[in-house]
Amino acid sequence: MKKWWKEAVVYQIYTKSFYDSNGDGIGDLRGIVQKLDYIQKLGATVIWLNPIYQSPDVDNGYDISDYQSIDPRYGTLDDFKELLEKAHARGIRLIMDMVLNHTSDEHKWFQESKKSKGNPYRDYYIWRPAKNGKEPNNWGNYFYEGRGSAWEFDETTQEYYLHNYSKKMPDLNWGNPNMKEDMCRMMRWWLDLGVDGFRMDAVNRLVKPKGLPDSPNPPTPPVGIYGYVVDRTMCANCPGIHELLHELNQEVFQKYDMMVVGETGNVDTAIAIDYVKEEREEINMVFHFEIAKNPVLKTVVEIKEIERRWNHVVMEQNGWITQYLSNHDTPRQVSFFGNDKEYRYESATMLGLLMHTHPGTVYIYQGEEIGMTNVDFPSIEYYNEKYTVGKYETMVESGVDPETALNSLKHTSRDNDRTPMQWDDSDNGGFTTGTPWMHSNPNYVDINVVREEEREHSVLRFYRTLTSLRKEHPVMVYGDYHQMLEDDEDLIVYLRQYEKETWLVICNFYGNERSMPQKVQEILDQEHGTLLLGNYDDVTNETAEQIRPYEARIYQLS
Ligand code: GLC
Ligand code: CA
Repeated sequence: MKKWWKEAVVYQIYTKSFYDSNGDGIGDLRGIVQKLDYIQKLGATVIWLNPIYQSPDVDNGYDISDYQSIDPRYGTLDDFKELLEKAHARGIRLIMDMVLNHTSDEHKWFQESKKSKGNPYRDYYIWRPAKNGKEPNNWGNYFYEGRGSAWEFDETTQEYYLHNYSKKMPDLNWGNPNMKEDMCRMMRWWLDLGVDGFRMDAVNRLVKPKGLPDSPNPPTPPVGIYGYVVDRTMCANCPGIHELLHELNQEVFQKYDMMVVGETGNVDTAIAIDYVKEEREEINMVFHFEIAKNPVLKTVVEIKEIERRWNHVVMEQNGWITQYLSNHDTPRQVSFFGNDKEYRYESATMLGLLMHTHPGTVYIYQGEEIGMTNVDFPSIEYYNEKYTVGKYETMVESGVDPETALNSLKHTSRDNDRTPMQWDDSDNGGFTTGTPWMHSNPNYVDINVVREEEREHSVLRFYRTLTSLRKEHPVMVYGDYHQMLEDDEDLIVYLRQYEKETWLVICNFYGNERSMPQKVQEILDQEHGTLLLGNYDDVTNETAEQIRPYEARIYQLS
């Protein structure tokens, strides 16, 4: 069935690093308002804002202390309303990040909860007494914070509370009906204000395993030296999660014309289907991490297998999926999968073309459209985010040499994606007139929006072409998907077909040259393939036979 959110091109904005309108070094809502023309010209139809709620900011806003107010760093509720109105006036919808797994420890619910065992808010969180004088179980927190446990002892009531992330982010207890009701009311409040949907943070972790058993996976040295186990599967997809999401759907989502995309680590397609199958009435689509956030670089043969599997969710299971390269938790894919030096333009555009021509809703992470790269910070002091710093400290403390520890984290650090947006070649890439909250990537001198507008080979203009094609060619959204040459170790080749239109897409995923496979050439000859778009501009009859480094082409077949 056709839906606006299937056709959408979502632009993800990490507000803090996007554009600073008042010189305090922090990106803000008025900064986004000033860049709406840019976003519109890019062809985005939806904006997803990372959390902008009131927050002590230990995890860049994912630690919320008040869900119904805007953090003063980012602006006011009036600024938000203005942004929403001006986006809507341009035909751009806006979705919020909805963090329901935990709050900040400074949220008033938690402040109450810790006062006494009898407090009406006590049960909004997960409290347990000590077990044999120690933590209630062996779980480690995902940020490797402190000595590693996911439990923090609280003096006042002499019990531990659960925090899968930072100890400043206590996990909520979704078994509590009052908390559930408060959350539903809060979500409806945002929707009544006019927002168009939610990106639901860690949504498959809301329900915890019954009895909170120990993780059976032994800790891996050196980061497991304290005996706590960082096992992200323990709270993922537990019994009861589908009932809860269906309930949220009935109480909230279903009452609005909105989209819901869930962040779901630790899902494969077999699990994902149950979240997104339309008739189950839970959520619309999920972000999986089989490609984007995997410390082990996948080969092209593996990537093709992953895409085939996810395509079944759409074609055979009546669900929907997402296509994204990066987000605020991943490295920049032009640096990870591509070549951000010699072939920055070619590999960034090849990856962009792949994403836009695969089935699913497209998500562009800010800066990706100008080919921003990973950052090469010289020492740990430059890093900001909890996971990188926590893991680094734990490794060093357990005897790993600091340089080795840093190098092991560099390429995957979440800070790679969080450096300020690069607008021009002035100080700090024109992001702020003040001192930016985190270091800019020094390559802003060469990689920035203004330069991309001027360049002959421009990632930005290529992305604009891709988004405008999406509006004219429903085959990109609704076409079925058939891969060819599944075992080819360089090329990704597939057909998309919808009503009268058929496309053949061919991408060289690597920096080596390849000749056109005979099978593909035969189809192009028989079906009179004409080149619709490519990232090399001299495709003639002769050159067409060679597929150059990171070359990507779309052919229309007749
Ligand atoms: C999600 C967010 C991440 C955050 C975590 C805790 O994974 O994307 O940035 O640290 O949840 O809220
Ligand atoms: Ca600011």
